[in-house]
Amino acid sequence: MNVRPDFSKNANHAETAPAFLSVWDMHSYYGESYIVQGINFNVHEGEILALLGRNGAGKTTTLRSIARMDNPQVNHGEIWLDHQPLHLMSSHEAAQAGLGLVPEDRCIIPGLTVEENLKLAQIAPPIGWSIERLYDLFPRLGERRNQEGVTLSGGEQQMLSIARALARDIKVLLLDEPYEGLAPVIVDEIEKTLRHVKEQGMTTILVEQNAVRALQLADRAVILDTGSIVFDGSAAEVLENAELRAEYLAI
Ligand SMILES: Nc1ncnc2c1ncn2[C@@H]1O[C@H](COP(=O)(O)OP(=O)(O)OP(=O)(O)O)[C@@H](O)[C@H]1O
Ligand SMILES: [Mg+2]
Repeated sequence: MNVRPDFSKNANHAETAPAFLSVWDMHSYYGESYIVQGINFNVHEGEILALLGRNGAGKTTTLRSIARMDNPQVNHGEIWLDHQPLHLMSSHEAAQAGLGLVPEDRCIIPGLTVEENLKLAQIAPPIGWSIERLYDLFPRLGERRNQEGVTLSGGEQQMLSIARALARDIKVLLLDEPYEGLAPVIVDEIEKTLRHVKEQGMTTILVEQNAVRALQLADRAVILDTGSIVFDGSAAEVLENAELRAEYLAI
């Protein structure tokens, strides 16, 4: 259990650099329900990986497994982040090790202003982006720094949720459907910031139902279907392959 796996021989695409985040033969369960059924994939430092698939394919379960949430249980497999064995950690330890999960429900803390939400994320070192730098990234948050977080619009709450993850010193950003329910113009704004965050060297896993938008931003894509990986390759390849899109993404 303590040898870092080498997936380079298993990958469908040519790659030589060692992976930054590796998921190896991961099996996840909710009680008796067997959901993620032995998946392997790599994420390289500084890239955006789109994790796609139909409703119920297991995308959220995969993110929660990597983040070491109590549910689901990962009964088998290894997860390595920058040489650290996440599979041996609790969710708190995984967060300390550099994992930043932005869940679908955004989890803004009620009763706190925008700024207090950000400060709370920085309560324990090591801290990541400074609050001023986060306001440069999301000027709308700066303008609303004294507004209660839960009263923000959906798009602004999504920005706050991403900003809270970056406020900690994270190595990888896990985003669960950041575009959900947002107008295209707000999606444009969030996409622009995700590009900027990538230019600063961040590694990101992006789960999205809006597959076309996700693929336009991502470097690579992994497609899940009923808990198994059915595609691992470049994002451009998925955009070009209508058959693959129709079969697994219904687009
Ligand atoms: N807490 C839970 N207990 C039992 N089963 C669950 C639980 N959460 C999810 N599941 C089941 O696990 C499967 C995968 O769910 P998951 O949420 O990972 O899918 P998803 O790909 O994120 O789907 P969506 O696109 O709808 O968000 C589904 O069949 C779902 O019903
Ligand atoms: Mg989901």
